[in-house]
Amino acid sequence: MKKKSRKKNKPSNIRLGVNLDHVATLRQVRGGSTPYPDLLLFVKKAVAGGADQITIHLREDRRHIQEQDLARIVKSCKVTVNLEMAVSEEMTQMALKYTPGYVCLVPEKRQELTTEGGLNVAAKEFEIKSLVDKLKTKKIRVSTFIEPSILQVEASKRAGAVAIEFHTGKWVHLKGSQARDEWSRLVEAAERAHTLGLQVHAGHGLDYASTSKIAKLPHLEEVNIGHFLVCEALAVGMKKSVQHMKKILKKGRNS
Ligand code: PXP
Repeated sequence: MKKKSRKKNKPSNIRLGVNLDHVATLRQVRGGSTPYPDLLLFVKKAVAGGADQITIHLREDRRHIQEQDLARIVKSCKVTVNLEMAVSEEMTQMALKYTPGYVCLVPEKRQELTTEGGLNVAAKEFEIKSLVDKLKTKKIRVSTFIEPSILQVEASKRAGAVAIEFHTGKWVHLKGSQARDEWSRLVEAAERAHTLGLQVHAGHGLDYASTSKIAKLPHLEEVNIGHFLVCEALAVGMKKSVQHMKKILKKGRNS
């Protein structure tokens, strides 16, 4: 019998969560008065391209995804829905009402263009634990969007998260020794998360090139990618952009 060549501790596939916020952004630039682009059509195309999960961020200011979008996507989507949301009572009630498979807790500031930096779980540990306990009653699994820091990984574990998602937005822009230092922090934090039994996810600012690098992060099980895939979809279509990203993840994982 042939020996399996898969390396120990490496799941064979890294799941791809496709973040569709910016499809909704295009609709909302006209105040949501147009029926296009049809978000559900893009959900279908992303899934046809191999998306393992659809990720959406219901922001408190509703700048892109609306409550109706969340309701429709959870109802009709054939793959897991991952709801990114702020740590707040309003958003906890939204999650309990619509029950996505996953919730990813993110920091949120009104003025920011996109999610800047990771959530300070250590500073809000008890508030987050109480939120996680509420979501658990509906079997919603929780991840925390954090900087690659041992402190934040350990606090996420104590707060009851099943996964951590490392914010890669800083790392993708760094060069030389700064990039190498940030990579070391990612590796160290990923190792700690794995030891604690947490799933390792990553996301933010990823494109084809940076995804092929992040795929080599030890224990990585999932990436969530939005802005780049939606931009690429304008040129080649959503299905093709997702298909290509899936190929990159597979190649990166196995190389
Ligand atoms: N993961 C999280 C938690 C995010 O907040 C975002 C941005 O909404 C992403 C991933 C995707 O980032 P990008 O759109 O830069 O790919």
